[in-house]
Amino acid sequence: MADKERETALGVVKNVVFCQSTEESQKNYRKWSRQYDNDMSILGNSGSSKIIEMFSKLVTDLENCEVLDLGGGTGKASFNLRNHVEFKGELDILDANIDMLYEASQKDIQFRNIICHAVTERGNLPLCDEMYDVIISSGAFLPNHIPASSIFVSTYATLKNSAKNRHLQSYIYLLTRKRHKLCEKEPLCYNDY
Ligand SMILES: C[S@@+](CC[C@H](N)C(=O)[O-])C[C@H]1O[C@@H](n2cnc3c(N)ncnc32)[C@H](O)[C@@H]1O
Repeated sequence: MADKERETALGVVKNVVFCQSTEESQKNYRKWSRQYDNDMSILGNSGSSKIIEMFSKLVTDLENCEVLDLGGGTGKASFNLRNHVEFKGELDILDANIDMLYEASQKDIQFRNIICHAVTERGNLPLCDEMYDVIISSGAFLPNHIPASSIFVSTYATLKNSAKNRHLQSYIYLLTRKRHKLCEKEPLCYNDY
């Protein structure tokens, strides 16, 4: 039974990653949104726990800090920040999918802003420069998801100057780990990135 559940959950992950287009991926997220948290628990979501670990190491002021959860989906990482790190600062979430964000909005996370926006290669973020001390992102830099190039053309600019060097390092660390992990399972072409 556990194996079957795992297989089904993996099948849905493939539907959003190994599909034909970002539109198809988003359509599949819309269908998946209500079941997403449950399936991720079945699969074991290491991305969120890694974020908690790194956040605890790097961020000492848990009150005067502004954080963006980029590609935050149903708010799993944000939820962990509030509940496991006891983060009390300002927290925004941005995601392309309104249904995923709806699930996030139903949790007691106390977001400052819930932003529905699809990030493209050109960045085009509806955010001001130097808004955030930290940007967290788990599982959002995949094929048919947020293009990695957007980090350098726009995301980076939303970090406050004081945060830039330290946090970009962690950000890229997460990104490369994710991509590496994915490649182990199934070879991919990253030409678009
Ligand atoms: C695997 S989910 C990860 C969600 C959450 N960060 C977590 O760890 O559970 C990837 C999320 O990225 C979002 N996403 C994909 N492409 C996006 C884009 N171009 N701009 C913004 N969000 C995007 C999806 O809608 C989805 O909610």
